[in-house]
Amino acid sequence: MRDQLLNLQNQALADLAGITGEDELQSLRVRFLGKKGELTSIMKGIGALTAEERPLIGQVVNSVRDCLEAAFESASTLLRDTIKSQKLNNEKVDVTLPGRSLPSGTKHPVSLVIEEISDIFAGLGFIVAEGPEIELDYYNFEALNFPKDHPARDMQDTFFVQNNLLLRTHTSPVQIRTMLKQKPPVRIIAPGTVYRCDYDATHSPMFHQIEGLMVDKGVTFGDLKGILTIFTNQMFGSDIGVRLRPSFFPFTEPSAEVDIACVICRGKGCRVCKNTGWLEILGAGMVDPEVFRHVDYDSENYSGFAFGMGIERVAMLKYGISDMRLLFENDVRFLSQF
Ligand code: PHE
Repeated sequence: MRDQLLNLQNQALADLAGITGEDELQSLRVRFLGKKGELTSIMKGIGALTAEERPLIGQVVNSVRDCLEAAFESASTLLRDTIKSQKLNNEKVDVTLPGRSLPSGTKHPVSLVIEEISDIFAGLGFIVAEGPEIELDYYNFEALNFPKDHPARDMQDTFFVQNNLLLRTHTSPVQIRTMLKQKPPVRIIAPGTVYRCDYDATHSPMFHQIEGLMVDKGVTFGDLKGILTIFTNQMFGSDIGVRLRPSFFPFTEPSAEVDIACVICRGKGCRVCKNTGWLEILGAGMVDPEVFRHVDYDSENYSGFAFGMGIERVAMLKYGISDMRLLFENDVRFLSQF
């Protein structure tokens, strides 16, 4: 019986050594140590032993049981540890791998230029005003002193929506809307989208302007020149040359076209400035008394200046962009450069 027990122990230990999973372990435990297991069935023979043999065999039984229980316990721990480390191995993450970068958006160059111009004028006490893009003929033309037969009213330039309704061709109607709402002093800039029936490398049917208007007692043409010089110096560098040329707009008198020295050749003459050394960047002038009459401002006591410039033109000069259409194609390879 002693041999039977020792054989059982050896067999159980050998089987245990070869297990690969929790199920096998359980069925081995049932087979050797269970209520109807092999150890129990050997023990059934104890009754037939002599009184001297019984305690001796009893000791062997106890030691075999203790040995197997301990062996099952450690096999179970080992199994659990192996399964756990296998699982951890499979889930291993290489923290040294570079991350996947998500493409991130950038501001459009037109927005960048609007922000930069707005910041410069905010520093000079100008606040931002806005107006609608679908505009009445009255604000876009009539109140700005465009005679009824002015060529700018022609279908060539203006997109009409209905008879008296159009897509604004400039941001100047915001001058009228602002002055109708508020009494002087006024210091506004009005950035926004404008529309003209025009399309080539330097013209787009939809583009952006920024309007400026200052009205107060004693505002002079000298103030206009001073403000625009501060602006061009901050925008294009303090050594950039500025010149004013006489011009005409129905809503300003006198009027001027403002040029800066060519940002490419610095005045020497090149393809961009068509060998003139100068680039036109904005239109400006003293507010015409006829405009003040429309908004009920007293032109005997108040005077003012206004200016308007094309944002795309400024963006093209600042970033060296040769075709305006690039600004509207929304190719991210182009846009992400700014
Ligand atoms: N509105 C004019 C244009 O679009 C520009 C301008 C604005 C000129 C204000 C003078 C004063 O060409």
